[in-house]
Amino acid sequence: MNKKLKVGIVGAGNIATSCHLPSYQELSDRVEVVAIADIVPERAKDAAEKFGVPHYYDSVEALLAGEPDVDYIDICVWTAAHAPVAIAAAKAGKHILCEKPLAASLEQGLAIEAAVKEAGVQFMLAVVTRYGAEQQKVIELENEGVFGEIYYAKTSYMRRRGTPGGWFTDKELAGGGPVLDIGVHAIDRTWYLMGRPKPISVSAEISYRIGDYKTKGVGRWEPFGKGRGVFDTEDSASVFFRFEGGKSMVAEISWAINGTESATTVLYGSKAGCTFDPLTIYCEDSDGYLSTVKPETTPVNYFTEEIRHFIFCLNTDTTPISPISDAVTVQRMLDGIYRSAEAHKEVEI
Ligand SMILES: NC(=O)c1ccc[n+]([C@@H]2O[C@H](COP(=O)([O-])OP(=O)(O)OC[C@H]3O[C@@H](n4cnc5c(N)ncnc54)[C@H](O)[C@@H]3O)[C@@H](O)[C@H]2O)c1
Repeated sequence: MNKKLKVGIVGAGNIATSCHLPSYQELSDRVEVVAIADIVPERAKDAAEKFGVPHYYDSVEALLAGEPDVDYIDICVWTAAHAPVAIAAAKAGKHILCEKPLAASLEQGLAIEAAVKEAGVQFMLAVVTRYGAEQQKVIELENEGVFGEIYYAKTSYMRRRGTPGGWFTDKELAGGGPVLDIGVHAIDRTWYLMGRPKPISVSAEISYRIGDYKTKGVGRWEPFGKGRGVFDTEDSASVFFRFEGGKSMVAEISWAINGTESATTVLYGSKAGCTFDPLTIYCEDSDGYLSTVKPETTPVNYFTEEIRHFIFCLNTDTTPISPISDAVTVQRMLDGIYRSAEAHKEVEI
């Protein structure tokens, strides 16, 4: 029987209260939320009362001092605070589950990696779409050789008017706009499903053409953290990655664009390709005719599966499927997008 783990959550905002805490309730037989912290202590108090968490604090330091038995820290703070919170947790010898993206900059991401390695703790990036049933089915089929070699992929996460409010548009707190916020989901998932090919270079443009729109009839998704009312991030990006072995990926990302909405990934392999929602495989059948197959999968709560996986890794001392090395590689790819866009040419990753 595995021991019941103790977790401390840092950040009592939207993702903590809408997704992580409900998933912890589902997993209460194997993990206990012993404390929650937020720099706005009333927020931590409200969340603690609502979800029956025994203690609340106003900083990661206070939580670590008050709860020395905690096994891991679940980081749900805005992106610029990921690095200081993760480094404090690692220094205290605590394992870390960290919301996406890894950090507000590559430099901060590398500082997290150094702290995690020095402390010898487990780190898992919470890139939730890796944990979906269709994504895991594709990994299973890849391992059976169904796709052959996946050499090209397209991914998009395009919203027509879907810019979040608060800190998300403030570069100092978010590090960047949709590239870091939603691009990370599309790019991370697609790169993972391609078999994590080594990135070589990227060519990208980012734009701020629609920005702080005043379109009527559309609301803004508001985080708890209101930020400073600044909007200095990009609102969209178009990207081409080259990988080792002549493989490539095209990515389109936007919070606001005058076109259709999409959230897609297409994988192209030498033997088969696929699309998602619903998972559809494009291949030849055993008689050599074109075939389109829709394997059955059972939808899961991505957040619960993600946390369940981390608990399994901690109990079995197994490396998570989204470890620090992947988190840093993806952060290098995201950083390359901004460097390429600034230089208006292809740059090395
Ligand atoms: N996986 C997903 O689909 C998904 C969706 C939304 C947000 N996120 C990620 O979750 C994180 C939080 O986003 P959110 O939407 O919950 O934002 P939010 O503003 O609702 O919550 C963030 C909270 O962190 C607190 N905070 C900031 N710095 C802190 C610090 N140093 N110590 C303690 N508390 C601190 C803020 O006061 C705020 O209450 C971000 O990294 C974001 O990218 C992931």
